[in-house]
Amino acid sequence: MTSKIQSAYLAPEGLSESLLKEIDGVIAVHDRLILSSKPFVNAHWAQNIWKNPVTLPIDSINDAAKKLKSIQRNWGLYSFTMHRRAQLIQGKLNSKKFKAQPFPSSFSDGPLGSWCLLDENTVLASADCTSPFPSGEPSFIEDKDGPPNRAYLKLYEALAFAGKTPVEGEFCIDVGGSPGGWAWVIQKCGAEVLSIDRSPLDEKITDLKGVSFEKRDAFSLLPAEFIEKGQSVNWLFSDVICYPEKLYDWVSVWIDSGICKNFICTIKLKGEPEMAIIKKFAAISDSKVIHLFYNKNELTFFKLG
Ligand SMILES: C[S@@+](CC[C@H](N)C(=O)[O-])C[C@H]1O[C@@H](n2cnc3c(N)ncnc32)[C@H](O)[C@@H]1O
Repeated sequence: MTSKIQSAYLAPEGLSESLLKEIDGVIAVHDRLILSSKPFVNAHWAQNIWKNPVTLPIDSINDAAKKLKSIQRNWGLYSFTMHRRAQLIQGKLNSKKFKAQPFPSSFSDGPLGSWCLLDENTVLASADCTSPFPSGEPSFIEDKDGPPNRAYLKLYEALAFAGKTPVEGEFCIDVGGSPGGWAWVIQKCGAEVLSIDRSPLDEKITDLKGVSFEKRDAFSLLPAEFIEKGQSVNWLFSDVICYPEKLYDWVSVWIDSGICKNFICTIKLKGEPEMAIIKKFAAISDSKVIHLFYNKNELTFFKLG
């Protein structure tokens, strides 16, 4: 069985069913890890994709560590069986230690592979994975005082994936911004941010330099308003709770206008994921639609200039 594994997918907690619908050639499911006999596909509901896994026969803990180290330095373990043996192997790798990271931080200390034990004498390992985080789970140093809620962690993660952040001198729009977790992140990056929501921002966010707020329907905000003022828009963020189709139509107007190059938008889904609309977002040129660790029943749309 093991020789046929060509790709593996780690599902987010509780979302294996959605992910299974996207994958062909499933040969085994081990807790949240799905093994497939087909080459990898960019599944939207995966928390991490093991793109090119290899199976390694091992005869001891040391042998496993030696074989993994000979491929590359940094490895994250996904353990579903023989946990103690797996932990002992992980302990022998010179892998970087996974500590909570500041934001923003770079992931420059080498690529991170993923591995697991399939049985006592077989390792499955992939040096090439889609997430820079072990098992696709980022860990950021939290700020309990600045932001008004925990939504800031979702934007931390999205910007870590984007590989860039808004910077000083840039102007950002943040729709569905209340109470201000995302505005807090954008302001902290040094950029100016206009937040739009039908509910107010937390006062401590409105008071921050570079943050402005308009109470209005997000979908009434159109590029023409900014084009007329000669105001460039560097980033458009949306965390509005709305039907995906409504978001798609509105974002398309912004993309077509050419006024903004960077988009990060959450696509809120209800119950069964509606694949047709997800595919429409994914078909937008140079875009990505992925499930972040901090997304619940939603996906994140990226289009970066
Ligand atoms: C998940 S919350 C946003 C949290 C926010 N990103 C933060 O960082 O604190 C979703 C927001 O969308 C807003 N919303 C829903 N429909 C809207 C609309 N048509 N126009 C403006 N805001 C809307 C809600 O009022 C709510 O504040």
